[in-house]
Amino acid sequence: MSKNPDIPLQDSGSLSPGGDGPRHVAIIMDGNGRWAQARGRPRLFGHHAGAKRVREVVEACPGLGIEYLTIFAFSTENWKRTQTEVAGLMNLFRRYISREMAALATRNVRVRFIGDRLRLDAKLVKLMDRLEVETAGNDGTHLTVALNYGGRDEVARATKRLAHDVANGTLNPEEVDEETLPRYLDTYVLPDPDLVIRTSGEARISNFLLWQSAYSEYEFIDTLWPDFTAAELGRLCEKFGRRERRFGTVKT
Ligand code: IPE
Ligand code: IPE
Ligand code: MG
Repeated sequence: MSKNPDIPLQDSGSLSPGGDGPRHVAIIMDGNGRWAQARGRPRLFGHHAGAKRVREVVEACPGLGIEYLTIFAFSTENWKRTQTEVAGLMNLFRRYISREMAALATRNVRVRFIGDRLRLDAKLVKLMDRLEVETAGNDGTHLTVALNYGGRDEVARATKRLAHDVANGTLNPEEVDEETLPRYLDTYVLPDPDLVIRTSGEARISNFLLWQSAYSEYEFIDTLWPDFTAAELGRLCEKFGRRERRFGTVKT
């Protein structure tokens, strides 16, 4: 899928050191608001508690054989929330990046952002760019943060770029296929997620990785994101290892 020479193509036969754990886990980190509400606190209190969980989860990845972790931090639909919540979240992202930059760099984590940066505040985008540059040489866990990300928006933006390439003659419309199109997606250097986890009991994907998760295994769990732990991630990875992925074929 990817044309990038340093990223191997998705290969469901060579997963973790353990053999059959997920190589790429994507998480819809949901339930921060309800977690805060249950404690009689404002929603932002839940977002802060949720942000704190990310470090433990990232650090657990190497031990679980997870090479790629993609987390949904803010959707293209989340702008519909109150101005207070949106501004609080943007503030939190800025503070989080500044605070975690050094730790991520020294822990050999390579960070990338997906989503549309155009609607984001310039100061935040500058920090995102810096974090990507500072961790570009790392080859440990590939952490991708989906920020102002929507699957439909991503496909629309990709289609626009593809159409430009057709218009300027660098792409022949006859060449557009399942291999060509994903090269225009934000995730072009990433393998598809093997396992998608959503916390908080909701069984929907809310516009996350629509194209990429076509053959992902899903786990919808009741835990609210601020209560999610590395141990729970480990259990879900083990369970994944016991699943039979068929990709449309029949087992012989
Ligand atoms: C997920 O938690 C974080 C974001 C969407 C930014 P929520 O804020 O959606 O929490 P709930 O679903 O209201 O409990
Ligand atoms: C999905 O959660 C987005 C993120 C976790 C960032 P939402 O809470 O926004 O999804 P809905 O509104 O319940 O579908
Ligand atoms: Mg929610």
